[in-house]
Parts: sequence; C-alpha cells; structure tokens
Amino acid sequence: MLIIKQITDLQKVLAKSEGNIGFVPTMGALHQGHMSLINKAKQDNKCVVCSIFVNPTQFNDKNDYAKYPITLDSDIEKLILIGTDILFLPSVAEMYPNGLEEQETYPIGYLDTILDGKFRPGHFNGVSQIVHKLLLATRPSHLYMGEKDFQQCLVVKQLIHQFNIPVQLVICPTLREHDGLAMSSRNMRLTTEERKQANEIYKGLVFIQDNKNQVEFENLKNTVWTLLENAKFIPEYIVLADADTLEILDSFNHTKKMVVLVAAKLGNIRLIDNMRM
Ligand code: PAF
Repeated sequence: MLIIKQITDLQKVLAKSEGNIGFVPTMGALHQGHMSLINKAKQDNKCVVCSIFVNPTQFNDKNDYAKYPITLDSDIEKLILIGTDILFLPSVAEMYPNGLEEQETYPIGYLDTILDGKFRPGHFNGVSQIVHKLLLATRPSHLYMGEKDFQQCLVVKQLIHQFNIPVQLVICPTLREHDGLAMSSRNMRLTTEERKQANEIYKGLVFIQDNKNQVEFENLKNTVWTLLENAKFIPEYIVLADADTLEILDSFNHTKKMVVLVAAKLGNIRLIDNMRM
C-alpha cells in the first residue's frame, strides 16, 4: 500500500489507473464498517484509495474534535491486510492551504436546517467542503459512504449533483455490533457502563419498526424517548422522514420510502443511528 500525503503525488500515481478508482473517505479509527466499504470498493474498481483526515471544519464542538479517536498504526495495518492500494493521509495545511478561517459556503439549503444540520451548525458545510476537496484530489469513479450517516449521504448526493461531479455515490448498509449498536469510531470513547446501554437506540428503532402497522408514530416516538431517558441518554431527535428527501413526516405514510433517524447523547458522546421503515 502506498501512503501519500501530497495531492500532487496522489494525482501522479492515480494518472496511471485509467479512471477506475474507488474512493473511501474516512476520519480514521477504522472499524468493520469502514472495511465493508473498502471491500465493496475493491469489488467494483481496479484501484482503491482510502483517505484518513480528521477534518477540523466539520466539528461544531471543539472538544469532540480534540478527543476524536486516532489509531493510525492499527488503521494502516487494517488497510494493508484488506488490500487497499493507496492511503491518502494529508495534513490540515495540505487540505486547507489558505488556513481554516477562509471558508467556502456551500448551498446545502433544506438539509442544513433539520436534524444534524440544525443540531450541529456548520457541520454539513465542513463535510461538503472536505468531500469536495477530496473528490477533486482523487477524481474517483466511485465514492463509498455508509448509510449510518444517512443525512450526510444525502448532503453528498446533492453536492455531487450541484457541482456536476462525475462520480457514482455508492451507499453501503450500516454494520452493527452483536447487540445491534451501529459501528462508529465514536463508540471507542464510551465507558464500559455506557457501552452496555448504547444499544438502546437500536432497540428503540426495532421497536418502532415492529409496531409501525399498529401504533401512531407520535406514540412510538414518545415511548422510545422515555426509554432512552431512562437509560441515561439525552435524546436530541427521533424523527420519521421521507428517505429520499428527508421531508419530516408526522405519521407513517406507507406509500413513501421512510426512515426513522435518532440522535442522542450518552455522557459526552453523541450517537446517531437510523432505520428504514
Ligand atoms: O463520515 C466521515 O467519516 C466524514 O464525515 C467524512 C465523510 C470522511 C468527511 O470528513
């Protein structure tokens, strides 16, 4: 595996891959969810590039940025074992040559006003900015992202459309721990006690799924909200939405593709998850 830190070097190497490049952007602290994206990218492409870059502009909470888990040595081992061709490992100065103050503003619109857009001001602008920069650096034919970050996938889909970026977005299913907890790098920061409780979000989603034909969404939402509070979570949202547009729905509409999205804090850790209905 080549480890490349400069965009110019990356582009020199990629010039030889005849346009068939699968790209998996990450912030490191790699887990099996990331590995499933890389495996899918390997099936579809001649060359697989993974990036590790903890992007400062997408953290609305400075403490979350400072404490974001960094496990570079084991990440590199995992990437080599799975057969990644290139690890792109840029510095902040490489990705933001004009410094972090000069920010582009992206036309995110509606998606920035709801759910994580509302609770994490500036987050999706930071994501759009770095994904755009990484796509320009890598020029992949395929981009792989996990459905766990459901709203992020829609923001990136919109970005690709708005800027006519010639890449196919491949959204891959969420991988879960044995007890249902969605795999996430932030899970590493949970205490042992918190980790035991952390799958309550998943249990809540399954409960909504199992009862969606008999009970109103509002009632299910209130029950899950209380269950989460009893398990020491501070819920931010439990929302039913149109899975294509993220238009918020008050009640189940079985003519639409639907998704329930949840965000809740457990101690200092903010967890998100979702389930299609
Ligand atoms: O999902 C992530 O890990 C990040 O938001 C991404 C897409 C790598 C951009 O920094």
